[in-house]
Amino acid sequence: MRNFITIEGCDGVGKTHQTRRLKEYCEQMGYDVVFTREPGGSDIAEQIRRIILDAANCDMDDMCEAFLYAAARIQHLKDIVKPALRQGKTVFCDRFVHSSYVYQGLGRGLGLDKIVQLNRIAVGEYMPEFTVFLDLSPEQAFMRKGGADKSDRMEAVDFSFHQQVYQGYKALIQAEPDKFEVIDASGSAEQTQRLLRQALARRGVIK
Ligand code: TMP
Repeated sequence: MRNFITIEGCDGVGKTHQTRRLKEYCEQMGYDVVFTREPGGSDIAEQIRRIILDAANCDMDDMCEAFLYAAARIQHLKDIVKPALRQGKTVFCDRFVHSSYVYQGLGRGLGLDKIVQLNRIAVGEYMPEFTVFLDLSPEQAFMRKGGADKSDRMEAVDFSFHQQVYQGYKALIQAEPDKFEVIDASGSAEQTQRLLRQALARRGVIK
């Protein structure tokens, strides 16, 4: 879907910070953009987010988790993404289907095919034009942020899960290199932001 760009990466890579800085830049430049996030991004979808991430819900079935992410996505598309794209805006979404592919399909071991199918039902034609991947291994990411946030049900999963997620992203990128912009996120926040903007300029999204 043209003008629909998603941003992905492992937990702790600085995705939220980089996305906020990009938003500020785009707004300063007067671009007609919408920044949003998953899971969440709209009222009902944010309520689903709280259920998914609540550390008290440690008994949640993996398939229930996969469906909740997909359910939040359907609502978020309806409330935010589809209207913005219809109005000709550029939409940047912090996480989208690729998170489900790697976290639920590979990390949880539900199987990539099953999660791709589930999300095809959820999103239909609303696939991103391309995806920015902030590339930093979970080892480096957690070291930099001083460990995982144990109050977040997903971050609290054991380390091998996050390694599988990282390898999963790498495999998706290898399978469809044209659909990704891989950004080295191991440098300073300034360096990463510069690389991110350069990549978006190469794609003609910003100047
Ligand atoms: P965030 O910390 O980037 O806001 O994302 C919340 C957590 O949810 C993060 O650990 C990644 C995870 N996640 C999935 O497992 N599947 C998904 O489909 C999405 C969107 C996020």
